[in-house]
Amino acid sequence: MKLVLLGPPGAGKGTQSVVLAKKYGIPHISTGDILRESVKTGQPLGIKAKEYMDKGELVPDQVVTGIVAERLKSSDTKNGFILDGFPRTIIQAMELDKALKCIESGIDIVVYFATSTDVAIERLTGRRVCKDCGFNYHIKNIPPKKEGICDKCGGVLFQRNDDNEATVRNRLKVYDDQTKPLIDYYNKQGILKKVSGDMSVNELFEVLSKLFKDARVT
Ligand code: AP5
Repeated sequence: MKLVLLGPPGAGKGTQSVVLAKKYGIPHISTGDILRESVKTGQPLGIKAKEYMDKGELVPDQVVTGIVAERLKSSDTKNGFILDGFPRTIIQAMELDKALKCIESGIDIVVYFATSTDVAIERLTGRRVCKDCGFNYHIKNIPPKKEGICDKCGGVLFQRNDDNEATVRNRLKVYDDQTKPLIDYYNKQGILKKVSGDMSVNELFEVLSKLFKDARVT
């Protein structure tokens, strides 16, 4: 199953990707995670990307399309993959189509998580991330058993630099301006499926599992 998860910041793309990747045994490819890892390890790519990420702006297309093209060459993607946070512009989507066409392949389904702005802001400003394993929590919706500590590995939880309200609002604006046109792009290709991103984590997972079963893409 070759899947793209599309939706605003805070829609729950990353959270669902983790459980879907486990259920279907395919890799979860998040450009945000790849970029944050290069920031953490001080790679030249990370130093360049950080300027954009801290402001909530998009990293230039040629940088991210290069990263994804390389990642899709790995053998673990041969039975499918979940793209989370990519593509985010029409140029990125066209580059992805081109790269997949070269290997006589294509995206099966693009799931659009329609999410209200208030929900997205509340989720992002309340998000906490484990410094060690990267697991995402939410101070109210998905709290850790012990405040500030990861249930899974005992790591310390922190707030992402771009999860303050001002930057979140800019990320949502950038999404409206540059990413929303992809809804129409994929609708025209006949592969877009819309779900509500406002549902709980479990409800959304059930809806997605049924959607993939009905579409016979698993
Ligand atoms: P990225 O990391 O991709 O951030 P994003 O798209 O802004 O997505 P988020 O992780 O914020 O939201 P999500 O939908 O995954 O929600 P999540 O599941 O985490 O990108 C960061 C930056 O990198 C960009 O701003 C840009 O600079 C750069 N970048 C990345 N990709 C790029 C690209 N292709 N091109 C150019 N630049 C790029 O959930 C959020 C919170 O809500 C969590 O606390 C979670 O616990 C909680 N939650 C999740 N689901 C639910 C639910 N159903 N109910 C209640 N709470 C929930």
